[in-house]
Amino acid sequence: MTSPAATRTPRDSEAIVADLMMPHQANGLKQPSVFGGVIMGMVDRCAALAAMRHSGGQVTTLSIDRILFKEPIRVGEMVEIRSRVVFVGRTSMAVVAQVYAENMSTGVRRHTNECWLTFVHLDEHGQPATVPPLKVETAEDRHMHDLAAKRREQALAGG
Ligand SMILES: CC(C)(COP(=O)(O)OP(=O)(O)OC[C@H]1O[C@@H](n2cnc3c(N)ncnc32)[C@H](O)[C@@H]1OP(=O)(O)O)[C@@H](O)C(=O)NCCC(=O)NCCS
Repeated sequence: MTSPAATRTPRDSEAIVADLMMPHQANGLKQPSVFGGVIMGMVDRCAALAAMRHSGGQVTTLSIDRILFKEPIRVGEMVEIRSRVVFVGRTSMAVVAQVYAENMSTGVRRHTNECWLTFVHLDEHGQPATVPPLKVETAEDRHMHDLAAKRREQALAGG
């Protein structure tokens, strides 16, 4: 366990949310799949947990920058989201969430989505507050960190 002000790695902030997809979560297609908003809600919650782990306090979603639905998720599958903080600014954190769907009968697990989000750490008055530094440990951490830095640069430039 780390103290609230300590430097953290992306792995330290990892959060996992998993759930069984139920019939009421399906869309209206002739071959129903899980409604995209259900996945987006799970992604937002999981990514918020990672941002809370990193900052050690309350956070708010500033943006859900990209959510790519690569393939449908079916009712009866388990959805698992794994998210990590991959970049920090002064008060903001970039989080990447990976989405997996698992067929519980066959055990086949697919990577179905990748989502990029930005959260802002808030103090007790609801004002943006500084976040602890992020320690980049692995080549994968470096890769995601550099991608996040470019995405932030583009977003701040209005792109
Ligand atoms: C999040 C919020 C508190 C930020 O307030 P603000 O006055 O814009 O604060 P700032 O201008 O200081 O920006 C805060 C951080 O966001 C970053 N930021 C602002 N616009 C950005 C963008 N388009 N892309 C990425 N980062 C951005 C800033 O760079 C700053 O990060 P930094 O300190 O790491 O550099 C405010 O926008 C808010 O309350 N939004 C509503 C949040 C919400 O309701 N979310 C739920 C949605 S349903």
